[in-house]
Amino acid sequence: MKVAPAIEGARTVTAGPDKAIESQMTEILTHFKGEKGELIPILQQVQQRFGYLPEQAMKRIAEFVHVPASTVFGIGTFYAQFKLVPTGRNIVKICRGTGCYVRGAPRIISEMENKLGIKDGSTTPDLEYTLETVACFGSCALAPVVVVNDKVHGRMTPDAAKKLIDKKS
Ligand code: FES
Repeated sequence: MKVAPAIEGARTVTAGPDKAIESQMTEILTHFKGEKGELIPILQQVQQRFGYLPEQAMKRIAEFVHVPASTVFGIGTFYAQFKLVPTGRNIVKICRGTGCYVRGAPRIISEMENKLGIKDGSTTPDLEYTLETVACFGSCALAPVVVVNDKVHGRMTPDAAKKLIDKKS
C-alpha cells in the first residue's frame, strides 16, 4: 500500500466554492424549510452524504437556517457524530484502555501507525483508512481489541492487526 503524508486537522481550502458540494447541498436543502430546529437533521444528512461536514456546506446551512456560521460550526464540533475532516472508507479503531494496554495495545498502535503511515486520529491521503484509538470498547475479556468498520477483532497481535489491513488492500 502507498504511504504518503497524512491529512491532519481541518484545512482551509482557498479555491472558490466546490460546485459538486454546492449542487449536493441544494439537493439536500430542498427537503427542509430553513428553520433553526432543522439544524441537526440537516447536519446529519450532510454528514451522511459527504462522510464529514465540509466548511462550505456549513456556511450554506448557516445562511439557510438564518443563524451565524459559528453556531453551525459549534454544533459540528460539539457532537462526536459529526466530523469536520474527511474520514477514510475504512475506520480502524484500536483500544488503548487499561485491559488492552497491559496486553500489548501500545505495540499494536505503533505498528499500525507505521503500516498506514499515519498517526492516531489521522486519515491516509487516499482516504482509504482512518486510524483512531478508543478508551475502551467494553470487550476487555478479548483484549487487546481492534475494531475495523465496526467488526470486533479480539486477542490481537501486531501481526494479526496488520493482516486485517492487508486483507483490505
Ligand atoms: S480495555 Fe480494551 S476493550 Fe476494554
